[in-house]
Amino acid sequence: MRVIVEKNGQEVSRRAAKFFDELVRNKPNCVLGLATGSTPLGVYQEMIRMHREENLDFSLVTTFNLDEYVGLEPTHPQSYRYFMQTNLFDHINVDPWKTHVPDGMVADFESACRAYEHHIVDAGGIDLQLLGIGSDGHIAFNEPGSSLGSRTRLKTLASETVRDNARFFQNEEEVPRLAVTVGVGTILEARRCILLAIGEAKADAIRATVEGPVTAQITASALQLHREVIVIVDEGAASKLARREYYDEVEKSMLLMEAKKRLPGATRR
Ligand code: F6R
Repeated sequence: MRVIVEKNGQEVSRRAAKFFDELVRNKPNCVLGLATGSTPLGVYQEMIRMHREENLDFSLVTTFNLDEYVGLEPTHPQSYRYFMQTNLFDHINVDPWKTHVPDGMVADFESACRAYEHHIVDAGGIDLQLLGIGSDGHIAFNEPGSSLGSRTRLKTLASETVRDNARFFQNEEEVPRLAVTVGVGTILEARRCILLAIGEAKADAIRATVEGPVTAQITASALQLHREVIVIVDEGAASKLARREYYDEVEKSMLLMEAKKRLPGATRR
């Protein structure tokens, strides 16, 4: 895992957005895995800015979101489809037909979940997966105890998640208890993952994810098994990392190496 600590949430978003910028420019028909929640909002704002001011072109990009609440229409203001439309898709030139969010209103979830997995494979697999993390260590809605090999399916939300997400609803009672979510196994198949965390409330989950054992009790810890994960956190979320100095050292070397690669003639050596 590459661990990057930035000084605040804005820098976390900027740094993450750069990875997306690089990918979309190098592979215009790439497949992006996207997340909802408060954490990725800054990344989406930065992507919109890059589209408007720097001609970042999303016209050939395909997207797949991680999850959706069961029982909310796509037009419901708290549905994740609505979130994606209003916070990203409506402001960039992505082809609406190439954006995918699990459907929380289907009659047959089993076949819809299977179809979602097939769609991802048919699109060529996810090139870059953006992830937030729950205070209970979940990625997507893979709550503690989820199989680390799980695929897209229905999942009951943990009470901690219901409490955390109540801030978006009128009250806790309104938060749906069920969601359709991609599995940990689905996420691990992405070519590259970027996990973001902002604020001290995420410090325990980040410590457990990066430095704890791989365990289904903290589903984000399964990312330790992935070849290419970049964890980008602010000072608050990094505050409980025991090996912080080491990550800073590694980062310095990475930046030096990247700068060298950009020198003229570097590719010939
Ligand atoms: C959302 C998702 C969740 C969130 C997590 C953190 O699509 O998959 O795992 O990333 O619950 O949410 P925030 O960013 O609101 O703290």
